[in-house]
Amino acid sequence: MKKKSLLLILALWASWIGCYADEGMWIPMLLKKYNIEDMQKEGFKLTAEDIYDINQASLKDAVIGLGREGQPFFHFCTGEIISQEGLVVTNHHCAFDMIQSHSSLEHNYLRDGFWAKTKADELANPGITASILVRMEDVTDKILSRLTPEMSEQEKNQTVKAICKQLETAAVQGTNLMANIKPYFNGNQYFMSVFKIYKDVRLVGAPPSAIGKFGGDTDNWMWPRHTGDFSVLRIYAGADNEPAAYSPENKPYQPATFFKISAKGVNEGDFTMVFGYPGTTNEYLTSFAVAQLQDIENPHKIAIRTAKLNIINAAMESDELLRIKYASKAASVANSWKKWQGETKGLKRFNTVALKQTQEKAFQNWAADKKEYSSLLKQYETLYGQREKLILAASYLNEAGKRGAEIVAWANSVYTALKNNTQDWQRTKEQLTSAAREFYKDYDVATDRKILVEMLQLYNRNLTPEWIPEEVQAAARKKGISAYADALYDKSLFANEEDVLKMIEQATPETYKKLEKDPACRLALSMNVFYAEHIYPDLAGIEKEITALNQRWLAGLMEMQPEKTFYADANSTLRVAYGKVQGYSPCDGVYYQHYTTLNGIMEKDNPEIYDYNVPQKLRDLYKNKDFGPYTQNGEVPVCFIATNHTTGGNSGSPVLNEEGHLIGLNFDRAWDGVMSDIQYDPEICRNISVDIRYVLFIIDKLANAKHLIEEMEIVTD
Ligand code: ARG
Repeated sequence: MKKKSLLLILALWASWIGCYADEGMWIPMLLKKYNIEDMQKEGFKLTAEDIYDINQASLKDAVIGLGREGQPFFHFCTGEIISQEGLVVTNHHCAFDMIQSHSSLEHNYLRDGFWAKTKADELANPGITASILVRMEDVTDKILSRLTPEMSEQEKNQTVKAICKQLETAAVQGTNLMANIKPYFNGNQYFMSVFKIYKDVRLVGAPPSAIGKFGGDTDNWMWPRHTGDFSVLRIYAGADNEPAAYSPENKPYQPATFFKISAKGVNEGDFTMVFGYPGTTNEYLTSFAVAQLQDIENPHKIAIRTAKLNIINAAMESDELLRIKYASKAASVANSWKKWQGETKGLKRFNTVALKQTQEKAFQNWAADKKEYSSLLKQYETLYGQREKLILAASYLNEAGKRGAEIVAWANSVYTALKNNTQDWQRTKEQLTSAAREFYKDYDVATDRKILVEMLQLYNRNLTPEWIPEEVQAAARKKGISAYADALYDKSLFANEEDVLKMIEQATPETYKKLEKDPACRLALSMNVFYAEHIYPDLAGIEKEITALNQRWLAGLMEMQPEKTFYADANSTLRVAYGKVQGYSPCDGVYYQHYTTLNGIMEKDNPEIYDYNVPQKLRDLYKNKDFGPYTQNGEVPVCFIATNHTTGGNSGSPVLNEEGHLIGLNFDRAWDGVMSDIQYDPEICRNISVDIRYVLFIIDKLANAKHLIEEMEIVTD
């Protein structure tokens, strides 16, 4: 038998029998029912209540979801509390925007790092929130019992929305808590999470980017890895230890519990668990969806971003100020760009489409005589067929259009704010003024112009006219795109900070009408209109139908395999993943060991290459073997990999050992396995963590911030 088909059968068999060992992102309140036995078999020494308990302090009280005011339930990263005084560690890339916004040419904290000497030196980050989960509740029955088979999808959605709102309000009435209900298992179950959300989160420390982002976008998503991807924050609270808006009077938050740090070492085969806020996964997609993603969406989005990145990277190479301005933007454009490439490669390599098709055949056989399921797959096929052109057009509109050149999105947001203003006019002006200052601080017209030209070219080249907004088509006519761009930046108000500030200052409720003649605004509006008229209505309709199918599809899969324990796709709620520390073989003849060390940083050291230019101080520490106690077998460990099932949002999550002590911070996944958002494979999917001893080494030896080490509780046995 050929190796490929053997693998396919094995994979199919495993996914049929139950989840793979190590696969899954589990719900904390259900660990006792579904997982704890298995976890203990794998070496975990604590109980389910030690992880999640609502009557006494448990590990969950030390895990925080990092969010933003206005959208506090979307956790862009995870962090964990490591001292009685609210000290938090998360990733460097999670705090990157905060570090950047405190940086200037005089105080270049991105380049040089930042360490607050005293608490008074810690820097406020307006708008950043830290959520702590107070409790969870299964509210499935309360919601589903109110739906009837006679209801249309729309009625169902409205009913669910209304009940969720009621339940959320009732759950936190008279408290300072916030409740949020989310669908799980494609809407077959609902859980409510109740949070306490702290609003004063300060920056305590960050290593230089040459450590925190060592390897940069070159090494991103790759193993072996040598990134010290950590930063230090602190939560502040009011005098009563409750959430309070920023005030210099606030006090460090006193947590119910905090993570002890283990310095005893990490070995292959050790139990590990990751406790955090994974954002989105799609493990139950059909073959139609996977094929469309890997063959249409991903390749086009990758190509658009490649073009964008070529321009941004050249600008950053050319000038130190441009490097600061574009650092954060480049990192975020590059991050998904690279992930999509790894994902596409993995899906193809592991034949996910074929695997799904085989499963679907089995489903179809089972469902043949079941009215509610028998036509599901046929319906999927039809809908994905209709979706293909629309999703391609939407991808261009988003990637090359609205999020192509920055001037387009910026003009659009100013226009919309002025047009739709419902609040006090003065307040709107103040908000817009500060948004404008933020925007222009990191904006470069020449770079943006190059991006616009490239985006308009791609747009016109790769889509047929029926899918291209009028103004984008017009740009390619007459004198051509380059001349169009020259004229746009020449004439548009939005190319000039002073002009925009003046316009905002003098703005009246009529001003937006004048903006409609501005070329940047006109381009943005043409895209909006095109989206609203030619893409959104059909696409949204199809997506709604697909969502409804997804619910039945998963219900059917569960009914067909009653013995299998399913896990819910990630949805930015608190989850536990567990597995073991383990290397892997990316291809024939190669085995990657499970850890890296400081030696590897020195091997990569090259002052000529920006991503590999090691700070002199780190070179000196290495030369003098000034490692302190932070070694294993005489070497300073830097990163390690394990089989925990993680995704975006898990960044900064605590990686714990069998005793629930902190051994690392999750920050990435390894290239060969990033398709795990769609298909997890235990042979190859690995999460990457920075070893907590490297974090301590940098804080202690490089930053000389011993006072922070003293705040922590470090155990060595
Ligand atoms: N890949 C990691 C994540 O998805 C790290 C991203 C930040 N690092 C970078 N080099 N862009 O968030």
